[in-house]
Amino acid sequence: MDSLLSICDIKEDISYIIDLASEIKAGKKEEKPLEGKTLAMIFQKSSTRTRVSFDVGMYQLGGRAIFLSSNDLQMGRGEPISDTAKVLSRFVDGIMIRAIEHDDVIELAKYSDVPVISGLTNLEHPCQALADVLTIKEHFGSFDDKKICFVGDGNNVCNSLLLIAPLLGMDMSVACPKGYEPNENTVKIALEFAKENNTEITISDDINVALDNVDIVYTDVWVSMGDEAEAAQREIDLKPYQVNKELMDLANDDAIFMHCLPAIRGKEVTSDVIDGPQSVVYDEAENRLHAQKAVLYYYLKD
Ligand code: CP
Ligand code: NVA
Repeated sequence: MDSLLSICDIKEDISYIIDLASEIKAGKKEEKPLEGKTLAMIFQKSSTRTRVSFDVGMYQLGGRAIFLSSNDLQMGRGEPISDTAKVLSRFVDGIMIRAIEHDDVIELAKYSDVPVISGLTNLEHPCQALADVLTIKEHFGSFDDKKICFVGDGNNVCNSLLLIAPLLGMDMSVACPKGYEPNENTVKIALEFAKENNTEITISDDINVALDNVDIVYTDVWVSMGDEAEAAQREIDLKPYQVNKELMDLANDDAIFMHCLPAIRGKEVTSDVIDGPQSVVYDEAENRLHAQKAVLYYYLKD
């Protein structure tokens, strides 16, 4: 069964899904295409945007969603992921999961007879990346000649952006301290995508290098869910990569600021940037709903 665990899983269809999201957002698709369909939503970590946008999205498409905290599932008491996948497949039409370990999502998808959609793992956040590129397209009109720079911790959000940017023809740079680089295997795949699409990927600990000719400045928290034990060291190491007015001034004059949220003002970004005129973070958050409705339509519609 086809599943969305990584941006690589929709490599050929990203533009189609973005266009579908725009059509759904504009009210151009049929009403209630997922009538009678049910989505199970398993959460091993906290969520505001992912949980609410998938739930509202299913409702607006005519279906329904069931929220399942992993603490309440038998899976949380040791039931095998394989049995959970096989049993849920008998009840629902799709499974959305926010998991701690990416390998657990791979395992769930292996044994599931219905599509599995990742709502974030330690490795990737593909639905976030789809909402992000929808926001970029809406703002600039196209991806032509655009360059995105991810500043800070080379985390799950950074990994998915590294994969999606070259597939849409965008250049991408990452500005991160040594030891905080994005996943090595993801970078390898992203470089292959960049070669195929004639785009550039740069990873540097020098913000002046990474911020050169940048249209989109993106950052995320320094301490992702699960990294709490390293919080103090991370704040020291990542402080020079705070997105403040001075850093924004290194990007192009008409550059926009993006953040997947939740954000911590005064840490990875200052208030004058995230609450300032260059910020598009609330459009980006709203687009989680539209992009995911496209994903649900793509995977769950008969
Ligand atoms: N951006 C994002 O995934 O937000 P939540 O953690 O609130 O779902
Ligand atoms: N990198 C963050 C993203 C939260 C949406 C985390 O994994 O906690």
